[in-house]
Amino acid sequence: LQNSLLITGASQLLTLRGRGPRRGKALSNLGIVKDGALLVRDGLIAAVGPRAKIEALPEAKTAEKMDLVGRVVLPGFVDSHTHLIHAASRAEEYELKIAGASYEEIARKGGGILNSVKKLRAATSEELEKRALTALKQFAACGTTTVEAKSGYGLSVESELKILFLHSELQGKQPLEIVSTFLGAHVVPEEFRARGAERYISVVLEPLLREVGKSRLAEFCDVFCDRGAFTLAQTRQILEEGKRHGLTPRVHAEQLTRTGATQLAAKLGAASCDHLEQVNTSDIAVLAKSNTVATLLPGCDFHLGLKQFAPARKLIEAGAIVALATDYNPGTSPTLSMPMILSLACTQLRMTPAQAITAATINAAYALRREKRIGSLEVGKLADLAVFEVADYREIPYYFGVNTCWMTMKRGVVVHAANKTTIQPA
Ligand code: NIG
Ligand code: FE
Repeated sequence: LQNSLLITGASQLLTLRGRGPRRGKALSNLGIVKDGALLVRDGLIAAVGPRAKIEALPEAKTAEKMDLVGRVVLPGFVDSHTHLIHAASRAEEYELKIAGASYEEIARKGGGILNSVKKLRAATSEELEKRALTALKQFAACGTTTVEAKSGYGLSVESELKILFLHSELQGKQPLEIVSTFLGAHVVPEEFRARGAERYISVVLEPLLREVGKSRLAEFCDVFCDRGAFTLAQTRQILEEGKRHGLTPRVHAEQLTRTGATQLAAKLGAASCDHLEQVNTSDIAVLAKSNTVATLLPGCDFHLGLKQFAPARKLIEAGAIVALATDYNPGTSPTLSMPMILSLACTQLRMTPAQAITAATINAAYALRREKRIGSLEVGKLADLAVFEVADYREIPYYFGVNTCWMTMKRGVVVHAANKTTIQPA
């Protein structure tokens, strides 16, 4: 049985080829092939290059065919920071924020993350799974093929494990790859507030991390290090214990206040530190010398109506590995659209469309330590790709707030198609 597919007619094929991750000027190099083609075999990229060259391959003659008629192809987006599993929106808080209440004020009154914790604990696994599956369909429809997912709205042994177990269940129930992160240290839950943070931290350190490590339900350990969440010392303690259980650190760092979490992340060899609105010049210098990715989440500042975005240009100029993600969550960034994040990166972070696409593909793949399998269109990598209904890749962020994704493919399988797919039998 023939199992290969020839894809032709890409006006621009953005390969992102070369060694990842990208720093500095390399973020601008998309490795574009004009009138490009791809040969996909058994879910992997078997050949990629100019149309004439790929069409001449013997295997291309007998392959199934798909003509993109001038559309733009790029690697599927890697969304390296989401809080996928949650029970409900927080639209009521959105309205309070518009009326003038700050994110932190709402949190201090028991809203914010604790509001989502209450709702998650009351929800069944079936309800949570249904909501996540609906979201994952939309992720795919926006061109995303890999989604990192954090726990953190459970905050008890039972409900944190329930979330992590759902991550693994979702892996088998839909086509996108889910990368699981344990975020037991999101905030101190209500029932521990009177007893003190230390009592909850010992729950995270002992039964939780032991179970997570043993069950292998997560690959990464994250901590929200900020005012109103966890201190730098507590963050260090949790991430170090996570490492002993085989979990690679990643951190929510310098979002609302500067805590020093960025430099801690680099010291601990964290895969990524995320947010970074409040970083200072020494943080930027440390990141630039490290392999810890600077993951920027402009959706948060946009949704919260904040003016201070992360210093993306300074980070890029200094040589940090900059990535972009949605931070899909009900409190600060209720979007699952990477194209919208690209638009925000361009207009608010002043990144170029090329830099934004690199940040959302190969650099984000590196933030999940998967740069050898995903994030670029190169021979041997997964056939994860997104096709856009545009003739120039710059139009992807340019048309903001609309989804121009025409087709998404995961491991060679069409997982989203705006129109009926156009595969022609061999
Ligand atoms: O990435 N900052 C902490 N965590 C989330 C927000 C979570 C929430 O408000 O529900 C974030 O912004
Ligand atoms: Fe987050």
